[in-house]
Amino acid sequence: MSRRRVAILISGTGTNMEALLRAMGPGHPAQPVLVLADRPAPGIARAQALGVSGAVVERAAHDTGAGFEDALQAALDAAGAELLCLAGFMRVLSPAFVSRWQGRALNIHPSLLPRYPGLDTHARALAAGDAEAGCTVHEVTAALDSGPILGQARVPVLPGDSADTLAARVREMEHQLYPAVLERFARGERRPLFLP
Ligand code: GRF
Repeated sequence: MSRRRVAILISGTGTNMEALLRAMGPGHPAQPVLVLADRPAPGIARAQALGVSGAVVERAAHDTGAGFEDALQAALDAAGAELLCLAGFMRVLSPAFVSRWQGRALNIHPSLLPRYPGLDTHARALAAGDAEAGCTVHEVTAALDSGPILGQARVPVLPGDSADTLAARVREMEHQLYPAVLERFARGERRPLFLP
């Protein structure tokens, strides 16, 4: 079976991107073809160090959001991307762009959705006194952080946690969950995966 061609969109460090790239070795049902960032991002150098093409399509270089998304789409088309993984991509994509990728785009979000869509998830979980936190991989739809859930991983909230210590604990699980969900998704599996 031919391997699904995956592009990854990032805005920052790219630790989830790196976990995905490292997981897509020989025998994996997907292969990485491109990493794109919407700004100069440290993750681009990480991708290139792992032998994967990386490019920046700067939002600031385009007058409109539509122009920026056209440039993104052109880069994805040129790479022959079939699946899209958002990994810390800090830009909301338009319904028109999302509909082109319907059923083929995944995102990772640092909360147990449907709790805490949007930003500052860890501070909000701490403020609410939650006993557990976690992360979710879901399909990308036009509604922010609301698409069908493909996987979740839970961690305990520990006494004395700050948003940073909780984020670090969740991040370790992100690096396990996202590659595991992508592997299943590339094989056509849509049932959610729950870790641990
Ligand atoms: C992660 O916490 C992810 O859940 C969120 O953005 C962060 C990206 O971190 N969407 P990294 O760039 O993968 O290290």
